[in-house]
Amino acid sequence: EYNQYGPPSVLHLTEAPKPFPRDNEILIKIRATTVTAGDCRLRALNVPFGFRTLLRLFLGFSRPRRRVLGMELAGDIESVGKAVSKFKPGDSVFAYSGIDMGCYAEYKCMSEDEAVVLKPPNLSYQEAAALSYGGTTALNFLNRAQIKSGETILINGASGAVGSAAAEIAKHFGAEVTGVCSTVNLAWVQSLGADHVIDYTKEDFTGNGKKYDIIFDAVGSAPYSRSKTSL
Ligand SMILES: NC(=O)c1ccc[n+]([C@@H]2O[C@H](COP(=O)([O-])OP(=O)(O)OC[C@H]3O[C@@H](n4cnc5c(N)ncnc54)[C@H](OP(=O)(O)O)[C@@H]3O)[C@@H](O)[C@H]2O)c1
Repeated sequence: EYNQYGPPSVLHLTEAPKPFPRDNEILIKIRATTVTAGDCRLRALNVPFGFRTLLRLFLGFSRPRRRVLGMELAGDIESVGKAVSKFKPGDSVFAYSGIDMGCYAEYKCMSEDEAVVLKPPNLSYQEAAALSYGGTTALNFLNRAQIKSGETILINGASGAVGSAAAEIAKHFGAEVTGVCSTVNLAWVQSLGADHVIDYTKEDFTGNGKKYDIIFDAVGSAPYSRSKTSL
């Protein structure tokens, strides 16, 4: 948990009582979780200056109220409340707790109606735990862009949690995908299905004369003012 905002050293191990599920809740024994860019930003209040006060109001003004970070998990259901009908003890699940957090723990209770689903058996706990934060964010923004089959999309930050999910989901929708990442990740982004890759350490996509139907900026380094000539 963490009791103050700051660098990774504010995190420490602690003992906490095991939670008990309410009637509509499941108790999950967590087997895997992730450290996302979102966790790091919340821990350090690393947001644009104007948003910091708003974030403090939400998370706790002088210190965090929710002391356990972690937005996604995979694990096994240990017990269920008496009104739960979708899951049973022993089910393996993965889940997204989002801003409610609490996944850097051994146990977490969630309502059966929250973002929790059965884990496909062919995914490891680690693979499943890493799906939902990037996946839900990418899908949300691709839907807002109303992506269609045959369209061209450039994904800035295609090797990150959000960008790699965006690359795979955009391919699923039938788009022609160009992924932007660093040299070391070019082959991996291609293995996700990207049709073209651009190394941002060697080439500025805004200067190569190519145009795209959609530019998906998962980094923040390609705002509209910089990217509009490539649209
Ligand atoms: N609004 C929301 O709902 C929401 C939700 C989730 C995330 N976010 C935000 O979205 C951002 C990305 O999150 P994430 O979890 O995907 O982060 P991440 O996993 O750390 O990935 C960062 C990506 O940025 C790339 N990158 C770094 N510098 C770059 C540059 N100059 N040009 C192009 N790409 C560059 C990295 O490429 P290499 O590793 O190859 O260098 C990597 O692909 C974060 O700021 C996060 O807070 C917002």
